[in-house]
Amino acid sequence: MDKGKASRGKSWTKCSGCAIMGINLCTLGVLLSLSLSSQAQNITSDSYFYGQSPPVYPSPEGTGSGNWASAYVKAKEFVGKLTQEEKVNLTAGVSVSNGCSGNIAAIERLDFPGFCVSDAGNGLRGTDYVSSWPSGIHVGASWNRDLAKQRGAHMGAEFRRKGVNLLLGPVVGPLGRISEGGRNWEGFSDDPYLTGALVYDTIRGVQSSGVGTSTKHYIGNEQETNRNPGENAQGEYTEAVSSNIDDKTMHELYLWPFQDAVLAGSASIMCSYQRINNSYGCQNSKTLNGLLKTELGFQGYVVTDWGAQHAGIAAANAGLDMIMPDTTMWGDNLTIAIKNGTMEASRLDDMATRIIATWYQLNQDSGIPHPGIGMPSDITAPHQKVVGKSADSKDVLLQGAVEGHVLVKNTNSALPLKSPSLISVFGYDAQGPDYLEVAISYPSGSPAFINNTLYVGGGSGANSAAYVDAPIDAIQRQAYEDNTSVMWDFSSQDPDVDATSDACLVFVNDFSTEGEDRPGLTDDYSDTLITNVASKCSNTMVIMHNAGIRVVDDWIENENITAVIFAHLPGQDTGRALVDILYGRANPSGRLPHTVAKKASDYGAILSPDEPEGKYWLFPQSDFSEGQFIDYRAFDEKDIEPRFEFGYGLSYTKFSYSGLHVQKATNVPTTQYPPKAKIVEGGNPHLWDDLVTVKATIKNTGSVDGYEVAQLYVGIPNGPVRQLRGFEKVSVDSGKSATVSFALTRRDLSSWDVEAQQWALQSGEYKIFVGSSSRNLPLNDQFTL
Ligand SMILES: *[C@@H]1O[C@H](CO)[C@@H](O)[C@H](O)[C@H]1NC(C)=O
Ligand SMILES: *[C@@H]1O[C@H](CO)[C@@H](O)[C@H](O)[C@H]1NC(C)=O
Ligand SMILES: *[C@@H]1O[C@H](CO)[C@@H](O)[C@H](O)[C@H]1NC(C)=O
Ligand SMILES: *[C@@H]1O[C@H](CO)[C@@H](O)[C@H](O)[C@H]1NC(C)=O
Ligand SMILES: *[C@@H]1O[C@H](CO)[C@@H](O)[C@H](O)[C@H]1NC(C)=O
Ligand SMILES: *[C@@H]1O[C@H](CO)[C@@H](O)[C@H](O)[C@H]1NC(C)=O
Ligand SMILES: *[C@@H]1O[C@H](CO)[C@@H](O)[C@H](O)[C@H]1NC(C)=O
Repeated sequence: MDKGKASRGKSWTKCSGCAIMGINLCTLGVLLSLSLSSQAQNITSDSYFYGQSPPVYPSPEGTGSGNWASAYVKAKEFVGKLTQEEKVNLTAGVSVSNGCSGNIAAIERLDFPGFCVSDAGNGLRGTDYVSSWPSGIHVGASWNRDLAKQRGAHMGAEFRRKGVNLLLGPVVGPLGRISEGGRNWEGFSDDPYLTGALVYDTIRGVQSSGVGTSTKHYIGNEQETNRNPGENAQGEYTEAVSSNIDDKTMHELYLWPFQDAVLAGSASIMCSYQRINNSYGCQNSKTLNGLLKTELGFQGYVVTDWGAQHAGIAAANAGLDMIMPDTTMWGDNLTIAIKNGTMEASRLDDMATRIIATWYQLNQDSGIPHPGIGMPSDITAPHQKVVGKSADSKDVLLQGAVEGHVLVKNTNSALPLKSPSLISVFGYDAQGPDYLEVAISYPSGSPAFINNTLYVGGGSGANSAAYVDAPIDAIQRQAYEDNTSVMWDFSSQDPDVDATSDACLVFVNDFSTEGEDRPGLTDDYSDTLITNVASKCSNTMVIMHNAGIRVVDDWIENENITAVIFAHLPGQDTGRALVDILYGRANPSGRLPHTVAKKASDYGAILSPDEPEGKYWLFPQSDFSEGQFIDYRAFDEKDIEPRFEFGYGLSYTKFSYSGLHVQKATNVPTTQYPPKAKIVEGGNPHLWDDLVTVKATIKNTGSVDGYEVAQLYVGIPNGPVRQLRGFEKVSVDSGKSATVSFALTRRDLSSWDVEAQQWALQSGEYKIFVGSSSRNLPLNDQFTL
């Protein structure tokens, strides 16, 4: 449940009832500060911004295209039996005494049991008997499509057993534009292609279990600061931040993974809190009616983020289908609006049809547990025990936890550990939490989660755990097996070190939560702890559970620091997974899902969230003027050397690349624009035609078996130097070779043509790069289309 929380550095009081017209209705009882700048009052009405987002009406009706046909036939028949009031009731949440984030009421006379919808993208939140899965950033760092799909299927099965019809996730917005963004960890990567590939398989996995996904937050939801309207320090009512995104950037970055989500058949899309071109996410006709329902042919329903509705009938006409958690501005007003002609009756039918179609599409009309059955509102009160988790999920949970660890430094093969006689363990992040509850209390405004190992971030995406296997727990189990001695100090910032220690492991974290952006990309407390240990121990290894980009240049070149692991957010098997890596039972195979800079300022203007300023004081603006140049695209463009580039990660073995082979398909048209075709889910189906196939051979030249993540980047004429357009994770035994094959689709090779409103192939030379990271690309070729 995304509660409208105050943003960083602000102490907004709740200003209920004034979120309606976008004007300053909220000054009651508040003294205006005398220091208010004169500039601040320049723009006082949102009418100044009217027209910045083009109107797109009417709202397209779901047609039952592609594999939705039979679900739509059944849904239309069902909706045909509904009274007006029953249809209206389907369009908004209702209060039910259970622990679901939201509920749609039952229609008993037609045996419709209603829906339970619950958080979130990385596992079920706020209940018992469920698993804490690896978070989005961890899945991103794993670069493993198949594993993402398996995780989705097992996670979805937990939701299903608990009586949840809709999983409120996965997250592909934020995409990570703002390096300090508070929710970046919920999504997969700062790259749209990697994010798109992983969201596609996640959705296929979750929905294979019969639970729907609500892919979120649509769209341009890139910062937590001012994500909601509120009251500023001067007590003035301010609108939510506006993400001002040009059409090309929209398509090539932010819409890209949503397109994959629609292609995968996501039952629902959740519209976001903030505005796009100054029109709120849940009433923006261009993004909802235009991009989503026309261009991408979306057949499911659009649901608000919790409390994100800011207009009544206007939102319905703009393409919103369902409000959560309760009806604030619809209800009877929909009926009145149909009578007085401000809304078509067919719009209400379409809302109801889209919602019910997902129920049939996911086969929820037969054999599923009753909505909310495993979601007690209070787990301390007597309730039926409903077990969501399953022992069948163990391997997927553990493998998921293992694969998101990224080894970035390993001097002279310091890792894996070889039967150490004494390990010294330091840092607040090595230990489990003092108490484990279904809802964890997180700190606010802190760079680190002190006294706790970090295995998931904070806010509505914080999943509940069945247990937490902390690093120290797993290290001690291993010590028992190996007859190793272990010493520790979790609380001192300058601990004493036994001079005979074989290795000193330092555990720190980098915290992040919904509702606030991070205070920075470093943390003095943790950095000092690390250098203090390193000053006394020549074999210091740093393990960092980081919920976002973490800059490490204070100590990365310290010669006593022999190994560094970005451990991200592994979920409940965190310790077990780490120890498998530390002792070489698992060979590290994670790769960075973002760029780690040498210094925070290298991220430029998009390091930190946009703050309200100047004449836009009451209407905060976030101009996405960098266009496509975020993360590695920006570092490449500006020729800035990163500390660790996008796609980077070490293994205990080595791989060599050879045999690049580029083959153009002969049986598909390579016209500039895709051949005209009926739009189905995902858009023009010709966007998925494979135009070029690229193959390469990878040899494991080291002494142990391992996974390599082969990466393909394409330099599209007139585009960024290179963009990720393929990856394959392959297991290659020591001394053996494997062939990887990448299919490049029409979309992969196109740029968005703003004039034509089409994806367009470019004339000129396409460059192909294949290798192990965005800056280690030994194989090169080119072709023209
Ligand atoms: C936002 O405005 C830009 C610039 O005018 C335009 O290219 C884009 O299509 C608009 N997008 C939306 C969703 O309004
Ligand atoms: C619609 O929902 C309201 C509020 O939950 C309820 O009182 C009413 O009975 C419902 N109407 C129908 C026809 O189900
Ligand atoms: C109808 O809309 C008004 C504001 O536009 C709102 O105050 C009222 O609660 C709405 N009615 C229902 C039943 O939602
Ligand atoms: C029609 O009804 C809706 C819902 O109550 C209201 O918002 C709108 O102002 C009304 N329009 C007219 C023209 O009466
Ligand atoms: C961490 O634990 C120590 C005691 O072990 C306590 O003194 C300190 O206040 C705790 N810090 C936080 C931030 O909870
Ligand atoms: C630990 O000790 C046991 C017996 O005391 C022995 O069997 C085992 O091999 C030892 N393990 C290692 C890794 O030294
Ligand atoms: C490395 O560790 C040794 C002790 O093992 C210490 O004497 C030396 O000063 C340390 N070097 C750094 C750069 O901290």
